[in-house]
Amino acid sequence: MNFADSEIVNSILIEDGMTVAPDPESADVILVNTCSIRENAETKVWNRLKELKTIKKTNSDLTVGVLGCMAERIKDRIIEEENLVDIVVGPDAYRDIPRLLAEVDDGRKAVNVLLSLEETYADIAPVRTTGNGVSSFVSIMRGCDNMCSFCVVPFTRGRERSRPLESILKEIQQLSDEGYKEVTLLGQNVNSYKDGENTFTTLMDAASLINPEVRFRFSSPHPKDFPDDLLYLIAERPNLCNYIHIPAQAGSDSMLERMRRPYTRKQYLSLTEKMREIIPGVSLSTDIIAGFCGETEEEHNGTMTLMKEVGYDLAYMFAYSERERTLAYRKFEDDVPEEIKKRRLSEIISQQMEIQKERNLTEIGTHHLVLVEGTSKKSEDQVSGRTDTNKIAVFDRRDFQKGDYVEVEVTDCTSATLIAKPIRKTTISEFYGAAVEA
Ligand code: 5AD
Ligand code: SF4
Repeated sequence: MNFADSEIVNSILIEDGMTVAPDPESADVILVNTCSIRENAETKVWNRLKELKTIKKTNSDLTVGVLGCMAERIKDRIIEEENLVDIVVGPDAYRDIPRLLAEVDDGRKAVNVLLSLEETYADIAPVRTTGNGVSSFVSIMRGCDNMCSFCVVPFTRGRERSRPLESILKEIQQLSDEGYKEVTLLGQNVNSYKDGENTFTTLMDAASLINPEVRFRFSSPHPKDFPDDLLYLIAERPNLCNYIHIPAQAGSDSMLERMRRPYTRKQYLSLTEKMREIIPGVSLSTDIIAGFCGETEEEHNGTMTLMKEVGYDLAYMFAYSERERTLAYRKFEDDVPEEIKKRRLSEIISQQMEIQKERNLTEIGTHHLVLVEGTSKKSEDQVSGRTDTNKIAVFDRRDFQKGDYVEVEVTDCTSATLIAKPIRKTTISEFYGAAVEA
């Protein structure tokens, strides 16, 4: 989401006549886009700001700004105590950055952290300077109304609002014209998307028809109301990826209730079973929090057994980090000792690594369609990309280019990567057409 937001900010600044500096030392303005989701995200930002202070010492004309989720929470501390920052801009105030920059010209500080009920930046065409030129994010909604008890997002990013369908489709058409091959539709809770009669399913339907050679992913849906019609649509459309990120957070009913996640373990499990029934070969990933308030050993085991039962292909796993203003902060105690949180998290991670390795081993000998994203990290002679099921695959470069779809056969694996042998350059329609005939 922050990558997508930075691309909107790029657009606003370029429109205002600015250009991108090659390095921090030669910049007139440095903006740090921030995240508040966990303590360590904020720690990283503080460290970055301290680094920038050194540059500020040698360049007194430098303007430093903080954008995004940390803005509201720490605006006073940022400006008054630390004297590190000149402007502070919340996630709904990016259009105001040029005015704020003009205000600080004479050494004053400028702040706009107002949240909005309407702002979706729908009319702003993001300028993509950081991506790989092949896959891209498109924001479809902002904010969140779910109020999970551990989560600060509803407070930092405000109320949920959807971007008009037409503006989303226009942006996807543009990406397709520019040669992008993969789009991930983004929102804090994509299955709440609503624009008049249009739902998330009708949006995915319309998006997937724009270009059959551009494939689509989305992040993140909520397990409480995942629509069946979307599962059937994914099963039927070759360019809707067979991959669903479906955050569980925890595996016991008592914990889900404290987290204010309105589903039971049983309901969650039947949802993942249904996903696998309707979309054969679908890969599933999740978010998990270890050590939330009052977590017992039994509840921790509930999370472990849920993860084993589902057999996720990928998981993002975190230790609980208390956030001010959340319901958990106000009502519960962050009472799981740090070393127990750490131990539980590492049990969760090592079990997940084993599960991934086992699942990846079953892929050996199978064929996948991989979109080449670039050179492999480990070797210049290899390229890497993702399968439709969102697994990283590496294989010999031959004459493949970034943006090519390549049919590969999996020959080996680790818990995180499929090692493959390239078969041929192909297309989505050719690969899945052939698969259907076979
Ligand atoms: N502590 C740890 N993890 C959190 N997440 C959200 N809030 C917290 C928190 N306070 C995780 C959730 C969410 C993901 C984006 O971040 O798992 O799905
Ligand atoms: Fe946070 Fe829950 Fe909203 Fe996700 S659905 S952003 S975890 S409040």
